[in-house]
Amino acid sequence: MESVQAIKQRFGIIGNTPALNRAIEKAIQVAPTDISVLVTGESGVGKESIPKIIHQLSHRKHNKYIAVNCGAIPEGTIDSELFGHEKGAFTGATQTREGYFEVADGGTIFLDEVGELPLTTQVRLLRVLENGEFLKVGSSKVQKTNVRIVAATNVNMFEAIEKEKFREDLYYRLSTVEIHLPPLRERQEDIHLLFRKFASDFALKYKMPTIKLTDAAVQTLNKYRWGGNIRQLRNIAEQLSVLEQDRTISAETLTGYLPNSSSNLPAVIKTSKSESDFSSEREILYKVLFDMKSDLNDLKKLTLELMKSGNTKDVEKSHEGLIQKIYGDSDEDDAIFEEDVTPSNNELLSIPEHNINHDIPETITDKYHFAEEIEEEETLSLQDKELELIKKSLERHGGKRKLAAAELGISERTLYRKIKQYNL
Ligand SMILES: Nc1ncnc2c1ncn2[C@@H]1O[C@H](COP(=O)(O)OP(=O)(O)OP(=O)(O)O)[C@@H](O)[C@H]1O
Ligand SMILES: [Mg+2]
Repeated sequence: MESVQAIKQRFGIIGNTPALNRAIEKAIQVAPTDISVLVTGESGVGKESIPKIIHQLSHRKHNKYIAVNCGAIPEGTIDSELFGHEKGAFTGATQTREGYFEVADGGTIFLDEVGELPLTTQVRLLRVLENGEFLKVGSSKVQKTNVRIVAATNVNMFEAIEKEKFREDLYYRLSTVEIHLPPLRERQEDIHLLFRKFASDFALKYKMPTIKLTDAAVQTLNKYRWGGNIRQLRNIAEQLSVLEQDRTISAETLTGYLPNSSSNLPAVIKTSKSESDFSSEREILYKVLFDMKSDLNDLKKLTLELMKSGNTKDVEKSHEGLIQKIYGDSDEDDAIFEEDVTPSNNELLSIPEHNINHDIPETITDKYHFAEEIEEEETLSLQDKELELIKKSLERHGGKRKLAAAELGISERTLYRKIKQYNL
């Protein structure tokens, strides 16, 4: 069996923290088996090297290794990507197509961001994991495959299960062995080591002398929270390597490159949900997008259940929690109803409190990085946007408040309050 040190060298993994060594050791031990592995850890901690190690040290190494980013494939096409489809299965399916599970027969599939898989795909995945069987989209012919699965996630799977976004049975099936990679802030002795490695890589790449940190700068580096982990550290090393004329980097210079350095408390672990953290309009937009996506998924689920069962009462009963989450609590709305209706900025987009995700993970900025490209001046006033949404919805439903409120995901009373607020 190859040693941990040899594996680190072979896969370019830097660091010597016991937790990192343990993770690699676990990967080496589990590799020769066919056991499913779930790699967990925050964004940017280096999860992607673990499935590669597992595949390379397994008897499958001469067969295919396919890495699939589940979060990047649209929901409508993911089943077809993974399991293939028959000719004519849907509009545009002009040819029969093999999916990854067919192509990777005998090999390994790495399901990155597995927490993002739609529930319907999770059912198909569970079947493959249990007996190696799957169906192409649009086919009723059961096919067999022999694929080893390694999955990774940077979201809290227990939370996802609680929110009914991830199947519990699938979670246990995927995580027969769990390999956890620690965040960089818990790898103090590795931070400077990694920085030196990246500084030397970038010096070679850009043909410039290697940057060096002063002792005080090393301290700053170690104290920083590194929300983006190794990816962020690498990024900072690259910026400094390219932009700084003076190749000796002081703490002051370094601080200038570290976002939120002023609030840079050392390795604080979030214990409680913070109060409202709407610090900017952009942040509100992130939250709104996030909540809208979540509501949409909930609604899809409810609609599907309704279509399947056809019995409204049953569905209402079995999904009480979900319905309350989507349509809000009428008592709570009553309270809002009594309030002053004068429009104020604070009142904008009054999303029910329980719908606000106070604990937005750091990865959210990563996920919506595209939003950075939105021009500031293009950002519509939220008030205008809300007014427009309400108007359009009322128009669509011939002024019927009940229907418009349902479409907007708010209670009728809240809608009534908004109508008064905007003099509609
Ligand atoms: N121990 C390490 N030594 C050197 N480079 C590393 C190490 N760990 C990670 N990296 C580098 O850090 C970057 C981020 O790693 P990776 O893409 O594996 O993160 P991740 O955990 O998959 O994050 P995400 O959840 O956001 O996908 C990559 O460029 C990778 O090469
Ligand atoms: Mg990744």
